[in-house]
Amino acid sequence: MTPGQVVELVQQIEVKDLSTAAHTWRVVLYTRAVFEELGSSGAEITALTQGAALHDIGKLDIPDHILQKPAKLTDDEFEIIKIHPVSGYARLLQMGVEDDAVLDLVRYHHERWDGKGYPFGLAGEDIPSAARFFAVIDSFDAMTSVRPYRKEVGAEAGDRAIAQLEQGAGSQYDPECVEMFTHLYRSGELDYILHHFNDTVPLPSFGVNEVERLRAEIKGE
Ligand SMILES: [Fe+2]
Repeated sequence: MTPGQVVELVQQIEVKDLSTAAHTWRVVLYTRAVFEELGSSGAEITALTQGAALHDIGKLDIPDHILQKPAKLTDDEFEIIKIHPVSGYARLLQMGVEDDAVLDLVRYHHERWDGKGYPFGLAGEDIPSAARFFAVIDSFDAMTSVRPYRKEVGAEAGDRAIAQLEQGAGSQYDPECVEMFTHLYRSGELDYILHHFNDTVPLPSFGVNEVERLRAEIKGE
């Protein structure tokens, strides 16, 4: 997949899912930080950050009235939402993506360590590792992004989210993934993402080169 195709798809997802460019940038940067820490190669990191950017691509197959419903979803509507990891996986296959780590991340990002996730209900190490890490990242971002009622995403929101992750370690999340993410957070390595990529600042829509440029600028590299 070319960077241009990724940008185009990400923009489609952002419009459809009412998510923001900032959300995409953050999950990409957290993914990069995590897999760098794990010692993944440059090629693996490029593939996994692409997977992170496209993790909800399957939402393109969910009707707008369900995806954008302002009220609580009915059980039947939630059953429809649950297909998005599989339809996303199918879309990537159709586009010729062959990298297992990317396919796994998209297909299994809503599985839970205790087997209570969806769509397959896989548990523990039956869930591929990229997806176990990404589940932690996606949750952390959901808990720390700006909402109409929560304008500040400072240390307080981050600390609270980490406490929630720790509480869910061993049930919702792989404890080792939580430990590793918590370690990164406490080392301050993720601060720049929380502070510079929050939704209060308008950011250009996702582009791999732009992410790299802005990241280097902020980190003074
Ligand atoms: Fe998702």
